Amino acid sequence: MEKTILFPKVGKFVHGGDYNPDQWLDRPDILKEDIRLMKEAGVNCVTLGVFAWSTLEPRKDEFHFEWMKEIMDNLYANGIYTILATPSGAKPAWIDEEYPEALRVDHKGLRRLHGVRHNHCMSSPKYRERVRIMDRKLAENFGHHPGLIMYHISNELGGMCFCPLCAARFRQYLSDKFDHDIDKLNHAWWATFWSHTYQSFDQIEPPFANGETSMMGLNLEWKRFTTWNMNDFMMDEIRTLKEVTPDIPVTTNFMDFFYLLDYRKMAPGLDAISWDSYPEFHNDRESFSDTMYHNAFNHALMRSMKPDRPFMLMESAPGLPNWHEYNKMKRPGVHKLACLQAVANGSDTVQYFQWRQSRGSYEQFHGAVVGHKGTDETRIFKEVAEVGRILEKISPVAGTLVKARAALIVDWDNRWAIDDVMALSRRTKHYDKTCVEIWKAFEELGVEMDIVASDSDLSHYDVAVAPMLYLLEPETAQNLKGFVARGGQLLATYFTGCVDDNQLCYLGGFPGDGLQELFGVESEEIDTLYPSDRNGLVFEDGRVWEVRDYAEVLNVKGADVLATFESDYYQGKPALTCHPYGEGKAYYIAARVNAEQMKPLFEQMAREADIPCRRKPETVEYHLRAGEEGSYAFYLNHSTEEEIVEDVHGRDMLTDEKIDGNLILSAYGTAVIKLQNVRLQPL
Ligand code: GAL
Repeated sequence: MEKTILFPKVGKFVHGGDYNPDQWLDRPDILKEDIRLMKEAGVNCVTLGVFAWSTLEPRKDEFHFEWMKEIMDNLYANGIYTILATPSGAKPAWIDEEYPEALRVDHKGLRRLHGVRHNHCMSSPKYRERVRIMDRKLAENFGHHPGLIMYHISNELGGMCFCPLCAARFRQYLSDKFDHDIDKLNHAWWATFWSHTYQSFDQIEPPFANGETSMMGLNLEWKRFTTWNMNDFMMDEIRTLKEVTPDIPVTTNFMDFFYLLDYRKMAPGLDAISWDSYPEFHNDRESFSDTMYHNAFNHALMRSMKPDRPFMLMESAPGLPNWHEYNKMKRPGVHKLACLQAVANGSDTVQYFQWRQSRGSYEQFHGAVVGHKGTDETRIFKEVAEVGRILEKISPVAGTLVKARAALIVDWDNRWAIDDVMALSRRTKHYDKTCVEIWKAFEELGVEMDIVASDSDLSHYDVAVAPMLYLLEPETAQNLKGFVARGGQLLATYFTGCVDDNQLCYLGGFPGDGLQELFGVESEEIDTLYPSDRNGLVFEDGRVWEVRDYAEVLNVKGADVLATFESDYYQGKPALTCHPYGEGKAYYIAARVNAEQMKPLFEQMAREADIPCRRKPETVEYHLRAGEEGSYAFYLNHSTEEEIVEDVHGRDMLTDEKIDGNLILSAYGTAVIKLQNVRLQPL
């Protein structure tokens, strides 16, 4: 197992964040103090230039790079590296004035006026041209700077544009996809329904709010197109930079399980995956541990997009954000816990938004390492500096990887299709929630789980769970069959294999495309329950799992029945089945049962796959990072009580204490244990 250092020049964890000196150019005293404070906080890298366009090019073709050069030189002279952002996430006023086509159009057809950010049209040739000019100049001016370690493309790419340029590109995209044959599109979208048949690609509009929103195929294709177009915009930037400096790695900051972009389609163009994490800590809707595990789910999603290297925590809030509904402060100790959570899940960076709090405008009260007071005498600064020291202590962990043998299958296409389909209940589809809860249950059991696509290579995994795999791409069934035939333990649920990639229903019964042969069942009906309805899933030994929301009526075609329904017209019909297939087993659960109750099944699958469950209190999050020189176990206590983890053997890198038996974690406590007997997890 190799060590994959993301930044050889830095050679350890990156600690830093967004630095916006362009807001402080008239305060050289502050810029000087920044360097002193960064060193004190153990900051070794900053991200420069996000949103700096109007300082870099205040008027068309009038470039001012001297200030940035001075800042970068100064940082480098003080041992601080730079991640250089391209400023395309917000445009200066002169661009919108000269090129109104660069302004985004919304789903009601309304063109935005100048202002805010993340408001550009991805298709506009004029905007792309201005971005290219800027990016090329940045690469030429700073691409060979010794302090530069990475480019950061734009900022949180996202959103949709419905302008005429985007609509035209959409038509072209569709025409290419359907071999320039409108009948193929009509068939794929079942257009004869309601007489929606198109005679030509020119008639197709994006799904405007007052237009065509009733064709599932169109709706899905528009989302796919939005990702495709955004990726095309991003790749345009990457190509421009790489033409000048091919060896500088690139990233763009993703946002959790973001709804509007299928990040997996964008990942191949990036050298590292990075993301911005802003959980609502201490909210009143869920337990703190739930919030933590949900955040860890997002880390795992990012990690799994490039499993051969660490990912990056590009942004997080020191203290608090300012845009949540309630902006509650992180309690003492939580900053360290959250930062180590990123590292435990495989990140090699801990970065913040932002270094110094803005004095005015939209984010003036967003948390920052250095607040308006301007000193190191704050709780937040001290907690950040502590993280700096910790990252230094655990430097050998950098470059090691988290390896999982269990996988959760989660697809963006499927998510969009489930949300759009006129079926089930509008209120209880809960695809995301279902995925997160299953992932959390595995982690609580101490089984590490990656989050992958249904067409991913599953050969590294021995257990896989595919919740609600409603949209089943034709190749996916083969992939799943191959996984089980090789010895995998697979669990699928109600609402599996109903439609193909155009959202046309599979004919001949669900689950379609040959999956009935894999699971040994056929689903005949799906029943939607009202919130007050309950059913039960009854085992032979008398155990009952509570059923809510959905129940499917199955016909067995070779599977063993492990549990049946307790009541209603499908009482006694199979509710949980297991079908031996090749060397493995294919489980099917025909009802929604909460993941907490399903834990015995998950444990059984792990046991059969010979995956050890790490015993520990459920609110202690556990991960293992491993590399050539050693394995490092991370324990993160989500609770405000002291917790004990048994059977820990090694040296705690945070306290330098030898642990041989019980590990005691204080409230929100963390431990990084260099394991005594280096035993790498099998790949
Ligand atoms: C991010 C964004 C940053 C900053 C931050 C505040 O979404 O990339 O620029 O706005 O949120 O939490």
